[in-house]
Amino acid sequence: MSEQENGLLEESTWPEFKLSDMLLSDTVKAFHASIDNEWDSLQRSACQTAAGRALWKHVIHDPVADVLAGEKYLRSLHEKMRKDRLSNAREISGVILAVRTLWFDSKIEAALNSFNGEETQVVLLGAGMDARAYRLSCLKESKVFEVDFPKLLQMKSALLQVAMGSADEYQQLTMMAKSLTRVAADIRDDDWLEKLQKSGFVPGRNTVWVLEGILYYLSHHQAIQVLKTIATTCNLTHTVLLADFMNKSSTTLSQSTFHFYSDWPDHLLPSLGFSDVKLSQIGDPDAHFGLMHDPLNLFNRLRKLPRSVQTNPDDGTPCCRLYLVRASGSPNHIGGQ
Ligand SMILES: C[S@@+](CC[C@H](N)C(=O)[O-])C[C@H]1O[C@@H](n2cnc3c(N)ncnc32)[C@H](O)[C@@H]1O
Repeated sequence: MSEQENGLLEESTWPEFKLSDMLLSDTVKAFHASIDNEWDSLQRSACQTAAGRALWKHVIHDPVADVLAGEKYLRSLHEKMRKDRLSNAREISGVILAVRTLWFDSKIEAALNSFNGEETQVVLLGAGMDARAYRLSCLKESKVFEVDFPKLLQMKSALLQVAMGSADEYQQLTMMAKSLTRVAADIRDDDWLEKLQKSGFVPGRNTVWVLEGILYYLSHHQAIQVLKTIATTCNLTHTVLLADFMNKSSTTLSQSTFHFYSDWPDHLLPSLGFSDVKLSQIGDPDAHFGLMHDPLNLFNRLRKLPRSVQTNPDDGTPCCRLYLVRASGSPNHIGGQ
């Protein structure tokens, strides 16, 4: 089977690994040194995500992902990808992140289109180093809110400021969203919605909630509280929720990092007041993006098994699944048990 049939790319298609002058500048190096020294692993996961977007740049256009990721995470992921390619692995490291990012991009655009041009807010909960406000033109009529820990948001602003003030390609980085507001809050606390409102979020306005790579870092109680809080805003307006959920087996990949899981988010979300739940798995027609051709790759093998199956009958490994879920809410549908 050729690489193309495998869903992998020909070697020449992979971008050459080269750090930009900006990344090698003293200022950016010093910023990233303080991230390494002062941030915990939860916050640093934001840089790992950005590294994935930077290294899958042949499918994701994120012009600032490398600066936000930093040299250490870029090198580490690049090395894993290189080894995967050398060993003809069926899955190249970072492919989940690439598909997940493209899935969220496409669903954000579809949700905004469904609001027929009405004024819309997009809230990125646990926004990390996400640069959608700078890269998605579909956000041009939307007010974007990024919620994350204060030190992460400060660092992100500082890195972006340095990049945009430079004389090289980052200078052309422009805001795509109608507006961008950064809201420093811990979503485990009770007051994060209040903080969001104080920053200009209007509960009665159409909203797309983006929870990418965040729920499983919370405890079960905290994750349910966050989802319930979002569901209460559905009482007032039309809402689209986009979120990824790990199943139980996935949390065993790192029991100290991952906590909340749901094997059946399509049952959980209606019980919290959401409706029209649509669940996809990596490799499904809407979560494919030309990267999943090989029928024998892990994701395609998992999709063939019923979701209730916990252990892969082929090799006895746990069925680690990532569910990509779109749900909606509206004043008419709220059930909230
Ligand atoms: C894996 S990163 C994903 C970032 C972003 N959603 C993306 O896709 O690029 C997880 C992010 O969630 C943030 N986060 C985790 N727990 C949080 C909390 N309790 N309150 C606010 N942000 C949190 C972390 O700081 C980090 O930026």
